[in-house]
Amino acid sequence: MVIGWKQTTVLVLGAAVAGLFIAWSGLIGISASTGHWKVTDWFLHWAMRSSVRTAAIGTEVPPFHDGMLPMAAGHFERGCAICHGSPAMPSPAIARGMLPVPPDLKTVIPGWTDAELFQIVQHGVRFTGMPSWPVTEREDEVWAMVAFLRRYPELDASSYGRLAGHAASSAHEPGRTPETCNDCHAPDQLDRDSLIPRLDGQSQTYLRDSLAAYAEGTRRSGIMAVAIQSLTERERDALALHFAEKSAFDLQTGPPPAQVGRGEQIARFGDPGRRIPACLSCHDRENANPAYPRLSGQPATYLAAQLRLFADARRGGGPYRALMERVAANLDEQDIDAVAGYFFARKPIAVEGASRSGN
Ligand code: HEC
Ligand code: HEC
Ligand code: HEC
Repeated sequence: MVIGWKQTTVLVLGAAVAGLFIAWSGLIGISASTGHWKVTDWFLHWAMRSSVRTAAIGTEVPPFHDGMLPMAAGHFERGCAICHGSPAMPSPAIARGMLPVPPDLKTVIPGWTDAELFQIVQHGVRFTGMPSWPVTEREDEVWAMVAFLRRYPELDASSYGRLAGHAASSAHEPGRTPETCNDCHAPDQLDRDSLIPRLDGQSQTYLRDSLAAYAEGTRRSGIMAVAIQSLTERERDALALHFAEKSAFDLQTGPPPAQVGRGEQIARFGDPGRRIPACLSCHDRENANPAYPRLSGQPATYLAAQLRLFADARRGGGPYRALMERVAANLDEQDIDAVAGYFFARKPIAVEGASRSGN
């Protein structure tokens, strides 16, 4: 007998109705407490591994460096340990009731490649509770997390605590106090290669605008979005006031030395032929608009990373961000490294009690 399209349609519709009926009857268990059958468990995991492996094909892995680790560790403490536990804390009881249970990452990470870890952390895992990265516009934060996960299996409680800042070891209220910001932003922990900016030396206006931009999503950072997620606008403003201008900067440029490096050349004079304005015409000068950030003394790697984000129109920012996008669009890779190195070397002068807020 030949099965025609009529019979096929009836069969397909019948199967669909039967499926709906079974779901409606309530016979399919959805409770997490009973777990999956072994075969379901095996199948779901196999499907997930295959999907991640395929997604990872062609993903280019950037070089890793130690400057990526502290911000990723600080974020892990806030955004991942609540489900996966950490070297400083066993897996929380509430997460052990999830289905599937979030695995102890120490044991599973060696089974994944860097590109696969990137796919998992960037996109999350559907139907499991494993969330995607809070912002989708940039990849550099996720790569920092992958660099950290590579190191993760060898970390013990104290080496983890050192990387993640002291939130990992103390019980202060998360997110609200300047100390929790200093888990990542403490200036003495930030060297040339850091991807975390210094907050001291910035104006209250710039800090307030930046925090508002993270909260509203006009500046995109999954790490900062999570770090301030529980703060009200008033609490953000209080923190901006707290961190504003705790150190003074040497704003004198002096006469140009006989030999000016490329970074200083761009900072002082720009490159009019390539439509690059002098950075110092807006930044780090007396009477500058307080909405323009100070650059001197910021980690070179941070500055370069922000310039690349601006150049790709991925950074976003506060009310004047469009000005900076236009500037960065004309910088090439060598310009970026040179000018970032120049501003890092213009160290701020630490002055005790220079804070305007008096605390
Ligand atoms: C709300 C809970 C939750 C949070 C928060 C969470 N995860 Fe997960 N994660 C899970 C669950 C559940 C799985 C298991 C997925 C599976 O078995 O397919 C998982 C799986 C993973 C895996 C794959 C491990 C494997 O072999 O199955 C990695 C890697 C991972 N998570 C990293 C992270 C990182 C990094 C963060 C923080 C940025 C994070 N997770 C935040 C719940 C969470
Ligand atoms: C887990 C680490 C971490 C924590 C905790 C953290 N930050 Fe950040 N912060 C970062 C990183 C990384 C960036 C750079 C993000 C980007 O690329 O935009 C940043 C950027 C900022 C900026 C923008 C500065 C600039 O020069 O543009 C401000 C302002 C800021 N943070 C304030 C805070 C405050 C206030 C707190 C405490 C509530 C805090 N941060 C907590 C890691 C952290
Ligand atoms: C017309 C004024 C203007 C000029 C010229 C200018 N900038 Fe900017 N720049 C800005 C503004 C405004 C922001 C703040 C954007 C925001 O986050 O809202 C900014 C932000 C930055 C940041 C991010 C700092 C941080 O803490 O995140 C860097 C890095 C930067 N500029 C580098 C440069 C360099 C290098 C040059 C010279 C090639 C330059 N800028 C020239 C206006 C300018």
